[in-house]
Amino acid sequence: MRSIEEVMEKLRQQTARKPEIGLILGSGLGDLADELANAEQIPYQSLPHFPESTVKGHKGQFVLGELEGKTVVAMQGRYHHYEGYSLAQVAFPVYVMQAMGIEKLIVTNACGGINTAFHPGDLMLITDHINMLGDSPLIGPNDDEIGPRFPDMSHAYSPDLIQKAKRAAETLGIHVQAGVYLATHGPQYETPAEIRMMRIMGADAVGMSTVPEVIAASHLRLDILGISCITNMACGILDQPLSHKEVIETADRVKADFTALIKSIIYSI
Ligand code: 6GU
Repeated sequence: MRSIEEVMEKLRQQTARKPEIGLILGSGLGDLADELANAEQIPYQSLPHFPESTVKGHKGQFVLGELEGKTVVAMQGRYHHYEGYSLAQVAFPVYVMQAMGIEKLIVTNACGGINTAFHPGDLMLITDHINMLGDSPLIGPNDDEIGPRFPDMSHAYSPDLIQKAKRAAETLGIHVQAGVYLATHGPQYETPAEIRMMRIMGADAVGMSTVPEVIAASHLRLDILGISCITNMACGILDQPLSHKEVIETADRVKADFTALIKSIIYSI
C-alpha cells in the first residue's frame, strides 16, 4: 500500500528502532507506555494518512522503547469507529506497525462483563470474538501482497500466546478469566435485551474496539494476544447505570496487575 510506504518514509526520519511486538493500549490503560525504557514518542498527527483526532485530551501517539529486553511499539490511544472513523482508518496503524517490523500484537481494551461469573476489575484473555460492527476493515479491493482476500479467522487469537499468558498470570498469582469478546459500534451502551441476546450468542464481554485491529492483524497473519479489562458489568446484570467514569476508575484500579501481566508476557514471548 502506497500510504504505508509514505508513513514509513516519515517514520524512518524519526526513529531507527525496529520493534518486534506491537501493543495497543485501551481506555484507561495507556499509562503502560510510560514504562518503556529509552522511549521515543511519535504523535499520530505528525504522520501522513493518520486521521485527525476528534477526542479532546485523548493521547494519540506511538511510543517506541524497550520493555523486558524487547523492542516494543505501543499505541497510546487508538481510533474508535464511534468517533466517526471508518474501520479501515481504525485498523490502519496495525499495517504501519507491521511495516515497522512487528510479528506479534497484543491488543487491550476496557469492556463490560456479560458472563455473570466475572467481576469488575477482572482481566480476561480473549479466546475469540464476535464482530457485531456490521462492517470489516477489509472491505474494498484487496492487496494480495499484504494478505489474502479471505483471511482465515479460526485461530485469530494465538492459542500459544494464550497459554503463555495463562502461565505468566499463574506465576504472578494474578487471576485471569478467558472468554469471547463481542464488539459493537456504540457509542451508546447496550440495552438489557441486547445483553441477554449477546449472552445467548456466546459472548462473555462486550466493548467498542479491538475487533477491527484484530481482523487487520489476521489479514497480516500476525500472532495476536487480546486482553480485556472488565471495568464494569454490562447493562441489566447489576441494576445500576453504566458510566464512563466507572470504566476509567476500574481500569485505574487494576493498572498494577495489568502492567505486571503484560511485562511478564512480553518477557516470555
Ligand atoms: Cl457494558 N458495553 C460496551 N459496548 N462497551 C463497554 C462497556 C459496555 N463497558 C465498557 N466498555
